[in-house]
This record gives sequence, C-alpha cells and structure tokens, in this order.
Amino acid sequence: MADVTVIDHPLVQHKLTLMRRKETPTNVFRQLLEEISMLMGYEVTRDLPLSKERIETPLTEMDAPVLAGKKVVLVSILRAGDGILSGCLKLLPSARVGHIGLYRDPKTLVAVEYYFKIPEEIEDRDVIVVDPMLATGNSAIAAVERIAELKPKSLKFLCLLAAPEGIAEFHDAHPNVPIYTASVDEKLNEKGYILPGLGDAGDRLFGTK
Ligand code: URA
Repeated sequence: MADVTVIDHPLVQHKLTLMRRKETPTNVFRQLLEEISMLMGYEVTRDLPLSKERIETPLTEMDAPVLAGKKVVLVSILRAGDGILSGCLKLLPSARVGHIGLYRDPKTLVAVEYYFKIPEEIEDRDVIVVDPMLATGNSAIAAVERIAELKPKSLKFLCLLAAPEGIAEFHDAHPNVPIYTASVDEKLNEKGYILPGLGDAGDRLFGTK
C-alpha cells in the first residue's frame, strides 16, 4: 500500500476546484497555487522535529520550542515545481532550495535531466520534493532517486494532483517515500495528462499557452 496523504481540508479542496476551471486566468492560477501550497505545506511539515531553546519574554524566561536541526530543503522539479515552492517558502522562509530540471520526452514520456543543483549536507536535512502533477510518475521517480542517493534525513514528495498510475509507479520505485496530494484523480489520458486534472500545470502557471 502506497503511503498517500490526501489533504482534504475544505480550503484546499475549494482552491483546487478554482484551479481546475479552464477559464481561471494565469494570475489567479498562480496566486491559488501559492495559497494552496502554503496550506499543504502546513500538513507536510506537521511532524518536523522540535527542540527547546531558552528565551526571554518581556516578563520571564522559558524553554520554547523551535525547529530542530539544520534547515529543511525544498527541491523543486522545474518548471512547475516553482509554483509550489513559492508557497512553501512563505511558510519556511529559511528553507534551503534545490532545483532539478527534467523534461518529459513527448514520445516516450521518459524523464530527461538537464539541471541539478542541490544544497550541501543533505544527509542532515529533511527534504521535500515538490511538483504539482504526479502523472506517469517518471519525473518524480527520477528526481526522488537523485535525492535519495544523497541519503537525506527524511524525504517526502508533495504534489497538487496525483494519478493512480503515477502513485503505483512511484510506490514501486520508492516505497518508503510518502506522497502528499490534494487529490487522487481518475486516470491518465493517452498523452500522459491527468484526468480530470487541470491541464498543463507549467503552461497555466507561466501563461505559456
Ligand atoms: N503534467 C501536467 O502539467 N499536467 C498533467 O496533466 C500531467 C503532467
């Protein structure tokens, strides 16, 4: 059984519906993706470890909780991952950021890497890989593979929509990496697009079509 958390918060579900509508313009789509990513990021980071730090309030001293250890790393799969990244960075402004450039070969749908830049000391850090669409799973699998080789302290995958086919492939390749999503949609079409989906996330985010 794949480890999939569907973030069913009403605000997430409402914003997702607005994003799916074909008439939603680029500026609104971008804004919604940022908002929804903040809400999803809240859930994905729920189990981050805390430690205690001695602080002074205006009245007294206390041992107060702070995020423990080294800064979280957010890894965006270019280019649509950057839409989720900007929302997550609002929640985790000190997070370190990595980028993996992958494009889908339109014929084979195989992921081809063209860029890889990741912060140092990954082995001491919690890593969240982000990409809006878990469709065939090829890009997510390839990106997570590259990060897993660096042996991070923990590794999670955050997307907006997932297809059952992509979840199954991802789980086969990375059974220990949990998936967080706002929806598990029905299926993929013959071109590898998620149905009902929301179209091409990168094009809708950047207005390239
Ligand atoms: N990538 C997208 O942007 N949309 C899909 O439906 C599938 C992959």
